[in-house]
Amino acid sequence: MNYKEALKNPIFKIISQAAKDIGVDSYVIGGFVRDHILERGEHKDIDIVAIGSGIKLAKQVAKNLPNSPKVQVFKTYGTAMLVYEDMDIEFVGARKESYTQDSRNPIVENGSLQDDQNRRDFTINAMALSLSADSFGNLLDPFNGVEDLEHKIIRTPLDPDITYSDDPLRMMRAIRFATQLNFTIEAASLESIFRNKERIKIITKERIVVELNKILLSETPSVGFLLLEKTGLLEFILPELTALKGIDEVEGQTHKDNFYHTLEVVDNIAKNTEDVWLRWAALLHDIGKAPTKKFSKKVGWTFHAHEFVGSKMVYKLFKRLKMPLNEKMKFVQKMVFMSSRPIVLAQDMVTDSAVRRLIFDAGEYVEDLMILCEADITTKNPKRFKKYHKNFQVVRQKIDEVEARDHVRNFQPPVSGEEIMEAFDLKPSREIGQIKEAIKEAILEGDIPNEHEAAHQLMLKLGEKLGLKATL
Ligand code: CTP
Repeated sequence: MNYKEALKNPIFKIISQAAKDIGVDSYVIGGFVRDHILERGEHKDIDIVAIGSGIKLAKQVAKNLPNSPKVQVFKTYGTAMLVYEDMDIEFVGARKESYTQDSRNPIVENGSLQDDQNRRDFTINAMALSLSADSFGNLLDPFNGVEDLEHKIIRTPLDPDITYSDDPLRMMRAIRFATQLNFTIEAASLESIFRNKERIKIITKERIVVELNKILLSETPSVGFLLLEKTGLLEFILPELTALKGIDEVEGQTHKDNFYHTLEVVDNIAKNTEDVWLRWAALLHDIGKAPTKKFSKKVGWTFHAHEFVGSKMVYKLFKRLKMPLNEKMKFVQKMVFMSSRPIVLAQDMVTDSAVRRLIFDAGEYVEDLMILCEADITTKNPKRFKKYHKNFQVVRQKIDEVEARDHVRNFQPPVSGEEIMEAFDLKPSREIGQIKEAIKEAILEGDIPNEHEAAHQLMLKLGEKLGLKATL
């Protein structure tokens, strides 16, 4: 099979010539080849294997390019990288590799193309296209990766126990590719992941999170989380989620399985947002339910304050996984903390003041919160399903109306602390806070409009009540 079409970008001829200049063979390998055959659009990360020194080849390519781009050399790994137009091109020498049991540090020896292909993760990622002049565009596919692409199968080139133990992150990569591409992981591989699951512990959190994010950003993330659960990996990575599994029954009363519910919510939200943080919020919105679950004869199952507990758990989880502890984390916390607010509105009559409070508390994230809460509707009762969605439409409409009138989204007190001090000739004191709070409450309740004049009048009244004397 010839794949010249895949190599029509002039860079491949340039690499081919540079390889000839230094007397080595070279190949494009991995994701670029896979995605070309899958017609997934152009793959911008290009991996080149040299049968010899990858670093030398990279330097020669840079030399032959008109603008002589900078070559980044990673000596410890024996790799080099350069950027050409919008492509990241990585060069590596073909290797025979084995890994030590307890670390990721490989013992590296020079090898042939076949050696290099043997040590790749999956058959579909081990396909190479020749860049040598006499075989330019020829496909080298020793493990029938093309067939596996056709049959949509994830399979390792070697015994899966060897491939996964060489780099345990590949267990997550298998699941990530299965989720992204809608492929099946071969049974032997799946069993091997189950056997080797504990080895995930030696992988850095950062690499794990990269895969989690890719699973979350897939069209149907539940595919990946179900596989992570089935193979036992999830217990090591996100025990907060596995803790949500199961249905308890006491005196004939049950609650829903919050793990499967969560996955439904994540799939629902994936249809409405590409924002990975909002997807994280969907994944974590119920994690507080495991530690707060209680049964009482009077009310049955409760998860009292699970939103508050859940939002605290978000911080610990982000910290453990070395995820950013910045405004993204705070956003996820806020979504988890507020995740039950709109549904309460949707169950009852929607009052203006309740909507105003929602906008006030959610601030700029009110739309995100609505998206999360709509995704949270997983009731199998069609009547209720319809009713909640309809009520959410009413809530959305009210949000627009109330916001247009009252502007509480990025609430700024209409009367400032300085104005209050001046009006009553006060020094900084508790009364100022009390007056400000009472004005805000009056606005949120709808007792006064969110306008300066009305707020000023109320301030005077409140001051009088507190026994303060107006200066004018
Ligand atoms: N690879 C591997 N084992 C890993 C990571 C990568 O064998 N743990 C190999 C595979 O051949 C892979 C190539 O290195 O195709 C490039 O890896 P990477 O850029 O991480 O993935 P891609 O396959 O390019 O796919 P994507 O860009 O979707 O992550």
